Amino acid sequence: LLLVQACRDGNVEQIAVLLQATPKPDIHYVDPETGATLLHDACGSGSLDAVQALIRIGVPWNSVDFAHKSAGEAALEAGHMDVYDALVQEGIRSELLLEAVSRHHDDEDDDEPPKKKTKVSNAEYLASPLVFSEGRLLDSERNAVMMGWEHPLMIHHAKVIAPKPGLDVLNVGFGLGLVDKELQKLKPRTHTIIEAHPDVYKHMLEEGWDKIPGVKILFGRWQDVVPQLETYDGIFFDTFGEYYADLKEFHEVLPNILRQDGIYSYFNGLGGTDRFFHDVYCQIADLDLQDMCIQTEYVQLDLEALGDEVWQGTKRPYWSLNTYNLPICKF
Ligand SMILES: C[S@@+](CC[C@H](N)C(=O)[O-])C[C@H]1O[C@@H](n2cnc3c(N)ncnc32)[C@H](O)[C@@H]1O
Repeated sequence: LLLVQACRDGNVEQIAVLLQATPKPDIHYVDPETGATLLHDACGSGSLDAVQALIRIGVPWNSVDFAHKSAGEAALEAGHMDVYDALVQEGIRSELLLEAVSRHHDDEDDDEPPKKKTKVSNAEYLASPLVFSEGRLLDSERNAVMMGWEHPLMIHHAKVIAPKPGLDVLNVGFGLGLVDKELQKLKPRTHTIIEAHPDVYKHMLEEGWDKIPGVKILFGRWQDVVPQLETYDGIFFDTFGEYYADLKEFHEVLPNILRQDGIYSYFNGLGGTDRFFHDVYCQIADLDLQDMCIQTEYVQLDLEALGDEVWQGTKRPYWSLNTYNLPICKF
C-alpha cells in the first residue's frame, strides 16, 4: 500500500526505495474495488518518471482496470498528454517487439485487440447462425457483426475507394451490404465482393446481388479466395471475428491486388472502446503498411456519442470513441 501511495503521488524516489525493500512489493497489485493497477495510479499522478519506472520493472503497458479502462486512458482523462504520448510509444514498441518474437516462434498473440468487435474466433463465427434484424446483424451469441450506426462511415469509405465512376473495386465482407450499396451508387465498372458466411451469402442472393451487372461474388474466406483475385482501383476490408494479425495478413496481399494508383481503406475498429489502444494500433497499422510501401492518412470524422439504446440487445459495445480515424492508404 505504501507503493500504491507512492505511485498516486508520482513520487519516483519513494517508488525506487520501496522496490528495493524485502520482501519485494507486489508490482502487479490491483485495487480490489476498481481494478486500478500501479500504472493507472502513476498515470493519474502525471509523473512520467514514475510511469517509466513501473514499465521498466515489468508492469504491463496495456494494464486495464475492472471497467476495462487502460492506464493510458487514465493519463488522458487527467490531462497528462506527455505521459499519454510516452505510453503510446511504449505500446507501439512492445507490440512490434512481441510481434517480431512471436513471428520467430510462430506463435499466436492472444493479447492483441480483435480487429473488430469481439474475441470470437472466425471459424466459430462462420459456423454459427446469424440474425438480421432492424438494421443489425447479430451472431448467435448476440455479438454485433454489423450495425446501422456505421452507415455514415460506410458512405465515406465507399467514396474514398471509388472517387469516380468506371473503377474496378473490391469489398471484403458484405455484412449488411451498406458499403456495397454505396459503391453501387458510385457506378463501378466491376464490383467484386468476398463473403464467407453462408447466411450472409444466402441473403445476398435473395437480394439479387448476383444479378447486378459487373458484380462478382466470391463466396469463401478471403484467405481462401486470394488466388482468384485480380487487381483493383479501390479496395475496402471489413470482416468480423478476425484479429489484427489477420488484417496485417491481408495488408501483405495488397501489393499484388491494389493498382499502383489505387486506394485502399479498412474499417478502423482497432481498439474501438479505448482511445489509448486505438491510438497505439493506428500507428502500428500505419508502420506495418509502410513495410508494403503503402502510406496511410487518417481522416478524422467526428461521431455523435452512441447512446446505450444503440447497444441494447447486443452482447457488448464494440465502439465508444467520438472520433473515427478513416484510413486512406496509397502506394
Ligand atoms: C462487419 S461485416 C461487414 C459490413 C459491411 N462493411 C457493411 O457495410 O455492411 C463483416 C462481414 O465479413 C464477413 N466475414 C467474416 N470473416 C470473413 C472472412 N474471413 N472472409 C470473408 N468474409 C468474412 C462476415 O460474415 C460479415 O458479413
